[in-house]
Amino acid sequence: MATIQMKVNPEDLSHIQSGGERVPDPGIMVIFGASGDLTKRKLLPALFHLEQANLLPKNFAIVGVARRPLGDEFAADMRAGIIEFGGVEENDPGLEEFVSKIGYYALSFNDASHYAGLKAELDRISAEKNIGPDRLFYLATAPEYFAPIIDNLGAQGMAQPEHGRVGVVIEKPFGHELDSAKELNRNVNSIFHESQVFRIDHYLGKETVQNILVFRFANGIFEPIWNRNYIDHVQITAAETLGVEGRGPFYEKAGALRDVIQNHVMELLSFVAMEPPSSFDAEAVRREKVKAWRAIPQIPITNAVRGQYGPGVVAGEKVIGYRDEERVNPESVTETFAALKLEIENWRWAGVPFYLRAGKRLKKRATEISIQFKQPPLLIFNRMQSSGGCGEIQPNLLTIRIQPDEGIALRFGAKVPNTPNMAVCPVNMDFDYAGAFGTSSSNGYERLLLDAMLGDQTLFAHRDGVEVTWGLYTPILQSWANKQPEVFPNYFAGTWGPDCSDRLLEHDGRKWRNDLGGNK
Ligand code: BG6
Repeated sequence: MATIQMKVNPEDLSHIQSGGERVPDPGIMVIFGASGDLTKRKLLPALFHLEQANLLPKNFAIVGVARRPLGDEFAADMRAGIIEFGGVEENDPGLEEFVSKIGYYALSFNDASHYAGLKAELDRISAEKNIGPDRLFYLATAPEYFAPIIDNLGAQGMAQPEHGRVGVVIEKPFGHELDSAKELNRNVNSIFHESQVFRIDHYLGKETVQNILVFRFANGIFEPIWNRNYIDHVQITAAETLGVEGRGPFYEKAGALRDVIQNHVMELLSFVAMEPPSSFDAEAVRREKVKAWRAIPQIPITNAVRGQYGPGVVAGEKVIGYRDEERVNPESVTETFAALKLEIENWRWAGVPFYLRAGKRLKKRATEISIQFKQPPLLIFNRMQSSGGCGEIQPNLLTIRIQPDEGIALRFGAKVPNTPNMAVCPVNMDFDYAGAFGTSSSNGYERLLLDAMLGDQTLFAHRDGVEVTWGLYTPILQSWANKQPEVFPNYFAGTWGPDCSDRLLEHDGRKWRNDLGGNK
């Protein structure tokens, strides 16, 4: 398909001033569950990059907290993580200074008697490094420890100090279904005020996700057609080629619906579907998102399908099936793929189906939103182009590529030159981030960590939103738990998922768009 590349004028970029961001006040970030993968793969590399961009205060410390007695080993391990996962050179001049800010405290999360020691340690670091009382507690532990950690912080008076800003960042999952999400919210809010709570969904930190709002609300031409009069349907795909990567025990309890659809995919949906907020502040943005989710009627169970991968070939490599993965039940009924159709009953979207799917070990890694527009009311050119054309005339398609190959493409029909019969072929106008701005976007954590330190909740989940989305998915999860899948595994690794997923759209005379990864 022919493609026209969109480029940014370098003169426009030259006006962007670096250093326009606010820098948080001096403080300590305390990471619970710091010996897990997330800390060294994502959090520490993100903090290092923030420091390099002069976005961390000079007086700043990071304290990892976990059960094992790690001591100095922890800082060394984090250093290795920053190099390996942060794309940083071994001899980077900023590395030693940054690593000197990393400390470690061994503690048993459930043991209330250990927290006085932690408080004393933080006070000691504060005094030694002249840091002040600001604290950000990051809960990167298994979810069963969220409540005890929060209670113990509260009991020690660490959640509501007399001075300074204190926040708590909670990694997903926020609950396992509606009841446990409500209970977690009650527990968190009994100790921390909602304005102190940062429920992190790393998708909201992705540039391309934030760009959905810019695309819709900083441009005048898309909003007038962004509705049921012009849009036929919307597809959102979060496809991964990876399997469960050693996270078997976690994934066994999660599955694709809980792990990715209830949170990441629903965040994408809210940005596509929400009404324009009155401003870009936390309250206004989150209110519109929740309104969009609340307009979704209960999803009929027949509109949701699930799958589990068997062995197959991904990117030319043979891979094992889910049931053979490490620490996975050989008879597991956990879904590694889920797809569903939902509707949004409001004036903008009534009658426009949204099809969502997410899965592991699929054919290609691609997270994309495609918005298919309606055909013109009358096709004056031959619908089927037999000579020189490209088959049936295709409707306009707007594709938002969240990752990889981040960008946006608009497909439209163009006349094929030098053909006698007005032959039409689809072509693309394509904007790609890397080509236009000469930079690839970050993993999302930099933006979110900085915002949490600054106390800006715009890009974090609110308790109401979490409960509304769980409310939508809990009946499906319950129904799936009560009824065993008929045939699992039901798709080969390296394909686009089970047949029932295709049938979901075929039933409506539609198809999944599987040429993901750029319309080039
Ligand atoms: C996480 C899920 O939240 O998101 C993982 O727990 C999933 O299972 C990951 O792989 C996907 O994130 P990304 O940024 O790679 O799309």
